[in-house]
Amino acid sequence: MAPHILVIFNGKGGVGKTTTAVNLAAIFSETQAVLLVDADPQASANWWITRGQKPPDFDISTETNPTLLGKLKSIENYDLIIIDTPPALSSEALSAVLPIADYLLLPTPPAPMDIAALVHTVKNTINPSGIPHRVLLTKVDSRSLGEALAAQNMLMELNIPACYAFVKSYKAHERAALEGIPIIHWNGRNADEAQADYIRVADEIQTDWKDS
Ligand SMILES: Nc1ncnc2c1ncn2[C@@H]1O[C@H](COP(=O)(O)OP(=O)(O)OP(=O)(O)O)[C@@H](O)[C@H]1O
Ligand SMILES: [Mg+2]
Repeated sequence: MAPHILVIFNGKGGVGKTTTAVNLAAIFSETQAVLLVDADPQASANWWITRGQKPPDFDISTETNPTLLGKLKSIENYDLIIIDTPPALSSEALSAVLPIADYLLLPTPPAPMDIAALVHTVKNTINPSGIPHRVLLTKVDSRSLGEALAAQNMLMELNIPACYAFVKSYKAHERAALEGIPIIHWNGRNADEAQADYIRVADEIQTDWKDS
């Protein structure tokens, strides 16, 4: 059976794409055969994983060649392929992976300026593609959860689907990356909270796939 292809995308940089790609790869690899494809020339996902002492439970491949990226759907032996993309609205890598994507996850912080840019992207790039998608609020300040709720409401009013789960901002995420460890295997301050956030996201998007 062809693998399910999950693309993590936002034209903006620093919004949590790589953090989401690596952490979801680790969570899903507990139950499925997962390949994480790093399609960003910055290769941050690869940087993260190669810093770890222990190899992850998923495979990782750095691939920016559009011809090869376009053939990912025909790879056998994986249930799920997660693709981390560069922070650009148009790139050869993105043009290659959008046509094969089964689902797009669009991470963004809840700040109004970030949301406005993403709304523009959804209307101009994502909606015309017809690919199922959800916005994921990331780097949410736990002292101002109201901002995340306001962002979710605004997206709902614009008919843009957003995950009910969101990812709060914890230093734990930076530290886990520095140590080369996915958050679910990381121990330290706020590890439980940071893990729970991504586990909720994984549960929610998996329910979406089962319903579709
Ligand atoms: N929930 C979070 N809490 C705290 N820090 C976070 C969180 N998510 C991401 N970060 C940090 O924010 C920075 C950017 O995150 P990340 O690299 O995942 O974004 P990105 O969208 O992939 O960036 P780029 O566009 O450069 O590829 C990193 O230092 C990361 O550790
Ligand atoms: Mg990145």
